[in-house]
Amino acid sequence: MGINDGRVAIVTGAGRGLGRAHALALARQGASVVVNDLGSAASGEGTDASPAEQVVAEIEAMGGKAVIDTSDAASWDGAQRMVDTALEKLGGLDIVVNNAGILRDRMLINMTEDEWDSVTRVHMKSTFAVTNRAAQHWRAQSKAGNQPQARVINTTSHSGLYCNVGQANYAAAKAGIASFSIVAARELIRYGVTVNAIAPRATTRMTEGLRQWDEEAMKMRDPDWVAALVCWLASPEAGEISGRVFEAWGYGITIAESWQHGATAEASLDPAELGPRIAEIHAKSRKNAGIDIGDELDP
Ligand SMILES: NC(=O)c1ccc[n+]([C@@H]2O[C@H](COP(=O)([O-])OP(=O)(O)OC[C@H]3O[C@@H](n4cnc5c(N)ncnc54)[C@H](O)[C@@H]3O)[C@@H](O)[C@H]2O)c1
Repeated sequence: MGINDGRVAIVTGAGRGLGRAHALALARQGASVVVNDLGSAASGEGTDASPAEQVVAEIEAMGGKAVIDTSDAASWDGAQRMVDTALEKLGGLDIVVNNAGILRDRMLINMTEDEWDSVTRVHMKSTFAVTNRAAQHWRAQSKAGNQPQARVINTTSHSGLYCNVGQANYAAAKAGIASFSIVAARELIRYGVTVNAIAPRATTRMTEGLRQWDEEAMKMRDPDWVAALVCWLASPEAGEISGRVFEAWGYGITIAESWQHGATAEASLDPAELGPRIAEIHAKSRKNAGIDIGDELDP
């Protein structure tokens, strides 16, 4: 018995890295999976069906059920196709894992329009498009008196939450996904849909070579640690958890608390009066959180 027995999942970007780990973990826990992957390079160029085909073959080899989808997850038609494939070929839809992503890092002063547009499009639009298309189905089910136990798990990033230099496009997209997830959680709960986000840390082609890790750290950076959390969040047991952002890797699972109200100053219509008031609340308020627990940065 698996914790997702009989359920149907869509995983975007499931041909490699974290998405592959999510798809395999969901299948091991009894879910049938639409394995979506465009098969692009890490920077988003090109297409290749073979990564998704391999994951489908791996799931079938373990006795599970999977179908391939090679749509661009950020296209409206592609998102609809994934939902239709889940319903028509796998008999339902319970879980969406929005994971597809690319990187085009650059200091913002040198960043091109295309580097901005492509990165924000793949991350943010795919998350919105697949969630929107799936939510149409879940709302119809709910209105028909068949309340779903549906789950959306989105992928944000430490870069988005804690603001990495050199990743303005990626960080903006990932921060957008974190906020989107909380809005979606608030809107969709009435239809039996929970929405959470994960900020993973794992060694994949996206992150390999960025830094040297020792053997212990490499074990903790195995995508399977993240996939286990995704699998649990996808299960019926996780119905009470929605609108949360989880930092996830082998070292532990941390809840990223949202923006918080800091100190307040009296407002003024005269800008000349504001200096000392702003200095006071600047001194009183917490600094921006850094990427590691306990770090505080200015700015
Ligand atoms: N690896 C990490 O430490 C880390 C950290 C934070 C966030 N993330 C996020 O996790 C997700 C997975 O990253 P990864 O590290 O596994 O990278 P990866 O490059 O190994 O995998 C990403 C997959 O997404 C697919 N993809 C790209 N654009 C697509 C599109 N438009 N439609 C469908 N598929 C598409 C690629 O073909 C690839 O197989 C991404 O959203 C990434 O930003 C990863």
